[in-house]
Amino acid sequence: MQHEYQDILVSEVVDGVLTITLNRPEAYNALRTQLLSELADVLQQCSDNDSVRAVVITGNEKVFAAGADIKEMAALDAVGVLNDPRVLHWRRIAQFPKPLIAAVNGFALGGGCELVMHADIVIAGDNAQFGQPEINLGIIPGAGGTQRLIRTVGKSMAMQLVLSGEFISAQQARDFGLISEVTIPERSLERATELARKIATKPPIAVRQAKEVLLKAYDTTLDSGLSLERKAFTLLAATEDRNEGIAAFMEKRKPNFTGK
Ligand code: CAA
Repeated sequence: MQHEYQDILVSEVVDGVLTITLNRPEAYNALRTQLLSELADVLQQCSDNDSVRAVVITGNEKVFAAGADIKEMAALDAVGVLNDPRVLHWRRIAQFPKPLIAAVNGFALGGGCELVMHADIVIAGDNAQFGQPEINLGIIPGAGGTQRLIRTVGKSMAMQLVLSGEFISAQQARDFGLISEVTIPERSLERATELARKIATKPPIAVRQAKEVLLKAYDTTLDSGLSLERKAFTLLAATEDRNEGIAAFMEKRKPNFTGK
């Protein structure tokens, strides 16, 4: 996992948690191809590494990410956009099967807000601002924003954000379910890490199944979702961790989950 990256910083794994820091402060962490490709690579490595149980992603105190790199985007014509490798990197990020927790301070705009929506849990400092200002550039959100936003915050607020380009505060984002908790800015990363460490102590197969089944709710019918839930629930009955969890409860002791 240890490797030199240009656009991100990658921590050691501590208590099952790896932290990725977006690190292009001079460009407000604009998500150029290099950054997205590094992010997708690290997440892929985390998928294959049993010692990583959850990942925290963060920016700096002023900005999480100000969106696609507009200077890079300016060079692409329609064929360039059609063949843009960033589409593949976004797909790889979306397919990360372990919990991804975002700690957001400052701006989360355009692709930055879309990256927030790729996270499973979002904690934001009260200085955070969320928005989809692409309309001001003559474009629309291009990394899932139209679809994920409307499923997350509902029609009226999704339309308001995408059509007007206005930003919303951390408080509003929480009221609309885009994020789950607001903290003081100095505490958002600490709180995200705390949650990630807690999740890292849980049975990993159940965590992974829970994420998969919950995300399915975005794009399936209730009936198919319930059927998938039933299958995952049944599968978990075959794990040692399920036996351990139930035995620990009966014996009034802490469970020791092994991921089997
Ligand atoms: N791409 C490239 N560079 C960016 C950038 C971006 N998205 N956002 C900010 N920067 C750069 C600026 O060019 C500037 O660099 P220079 O000093 O070299 O000129 C530096 O970051 C600081 O920016 P500002 O001087 O503008 O800082 P500010 O505090 O006055 O404003 C801001 C901050 C409101 C975030 C403003 O920078 C801004 O509006 N940024 C663009 C936001 C945006 O439109 N995002 C959507 C992009 S399109 C997209 O994301 C498509 C998609 O769905 C994937």
